[in-house]
Amino acid sequence: MCGIVAYLGDKQAYPILVNGLHRLEYRGYDSAGVALVTAGELKVYKCQGKVAELEAHVNGQDRSGTVGIGHTRWATHGQPNDVNAHPHVSTSGDLALIHNGIIENYAAIKEELLHRGHRFRSETDTEVLVHLIDDIRSSENMDLPNAVRLALESVVGAYAIVVLDRTNPDMLVAARKSSPLVVGVGENGEHFLASDATPIVEHTRNVVYLEDGEMAVIERGKGLRVLNMRNQEKTPFVQELEMHLEALEKGGYDHFMLKEIFEQPRSIRDSMRGRLNLAQSEVVLGGIKDHEQRFVNAKRIIIVGCGTSWHAGLVGEYLFEDLARIPVEVEYASEFRYRDPIIHEEDIVLAISQSGETADTLAAIEMAKSKGATIIGICNVVGSSIARVTHAGSYTHAGPEIGVASTKAFTAQVTVLTLMALMIGQRRGTLAASRFHQLINELDSIPAKVEKVLANDAHIRYIADIYRNATNALYLGRGYTFPVALEGALKLKEISYIHAEGYPAAEMKHGPIALIDEEMPVFVIATKGASYEKVVSNIQEVKARKGKIIAIVTEGDTVVKGIADHVIEIPGAPDCLVPLLSVVPLQLISYHIAVMRGCNVDQPRNLAKSVTVE
Ligand code: F6R
Repeated sequence: MCGIVAYLGDKQAYPILVNGLHRLEYRGYDSAGVALVTAGELKVYKCQGKVAELEAHVNGQDRSGTVGIGHTRWATHGQPNDVNAHPHVSTSGDLALIHNGIIENYAAIKEELLHRGHRFRSETDTEVLVHLIDDIRSSENMDLPNAVRLALESVVGAYAIVVLDRTNPDMLVAARKSSPLVVGVGENGEHFLASDATPIVEHTRNVVYLEDGEMAVIERGKGLRVLNMRNQEKTPFVQELEMHLEALEKGGYDHFMLKEIFEQPRSIRDSMRGRLNLAQSEVVLGGIKDHEQRFVNAKRIIIVGCGTSWHAGLVGEYLFEDLARIPVEVEYASEFRYRDPIIHEEDIVLAISQSGETADTLAAIEMAKSKGATIIGICNVVGSSIARVTHAGSYTHAGPEIGVASTKAFTAQVTVLTLMALMIGQRRGTLAASRFHQLINELDSIPAKVEKVLANDAHIRYIADIYRNATNALYLGRGYTFPVALEGALKLKEISYIHAEGYPAAEMKHGPIALIDEEMPVFVIATKGASYEKVVSNIQEVKARKGKIIAIVTEGDTVVKGIADHVIEIPGAPDCLVPLLSVVPLQLISYHIAVMRGCNVDQPRNLAKSVTVE
């Protein structure tokens, strides 16, 4: 949710921190701040707004120093304002701290600290941490790493923190629990800390991912120590980052979202690379190989995820039931985790997450794991928490997704789900060899078909212009395209702030039809396939009430063309692959409408990319 970056080395820290905050801004962007130690003084600069506003605020002030911490915030406790922005400073003025996560028992700790004479300035839960650490350090006469460790023992909640000490600018102390933290190991003893690798990759490819319950102590001249909460040291496991810097740049596009929509032919191809073997007529998913038999024997698959990942899970439900004939339940992770659901050891739980850090999905996994289910992850971010806590999994390989609205991650998730369902269907014998062969060839041709959809962007933009001032919109789909309708509606509401609902087309007459009038745009996925005729009837029902129909149709369709106000053609494909094509025009419609309405497409209000709080 929030972005954390820190530096200790021989370079000036401020430019590294600000650059890192720009990279992290997608994680939260309501306020930002940095703290530096400059000639024995703690300098803290922070303000409401984006990183650019912080830069303007710091301009002209002393920002020298070779150690510092930086933060970009997504508010949980306390409004986004200058005071609540991080870093927070201890009453003594010696410690500055940045935090990602939530301290659940902050109220009790705060009361105790107030009695002990600490002065609170902000309304945040975070501030208790810095006072608590400082209190323990001075009252117990302890060094900083031990004071941090002891303080965290009394904390309930989730955190990634970094602490900077005015009295010892040669040290940074960090810790994590349920919120990610990466250490970058650079040149000449320099080190970076960040909530993900995006601010690190341009400085070093060598990283250490901290595990839950671990602390990192970085000391000038001594390097990095990784400790657990029992103060036991472990040898840091240094890995090489696979991320490339170009993936973090807009590459000539106006927005990350547009770049990521246009990347889909490549990202879908990357999701299939090395997994789809047309010559041998097989699908190989190396990451789940050891658990393949459990998958094949599964009595039930439970798919958990949130938001767009949950929508991908719904497509997965159709895929597994259709191709592998395994019953599937798709659950919002946030509901599932608190429901005491019935889970059997023969169940496969599929957890889907772009970031691999979503708190609700992580908690759902832990709960299902404790009940003995096999957990398979589908994640985009390599080395993320979900990727590490699952028994096995398949990365989506979509590359970093920076736009807050998920686009290429969705199609990559659906691609991996398709591969899994095909593989399991083949192994279970529920898919005839001829159908399997036809589908893998069709899947292979999807990237080229997505290119064709993207080539229609000017027409899609033209339609967007007509509906840019809509106040409501309805999205309808049926069968495999019902989840696409949900996803289309989510894309529109989250970036253009137009109220939108997705519905199964036939369900419309059970309520939403009352909303239809001549002002209401209704986006319908009406491609040729099993439900085509039925969807055509649903379109007639909308037209009879003077609603405006924008239909996604199969190339060459004449029937819907004759009824709809606008059509967007997409290439033909088997029903189970249509989600990968039909979602693309809906992504573009939302993008263009949002741009036309002057919205911040990449950083929509109130949202953040990685939801590490429940
Ligand atoms: C919507 C969107 C969110 C995420 C959701 C889950 O565009 O991005 O709905 O899909 O927060 O995030 P992940 O996939 O990272 O678990």
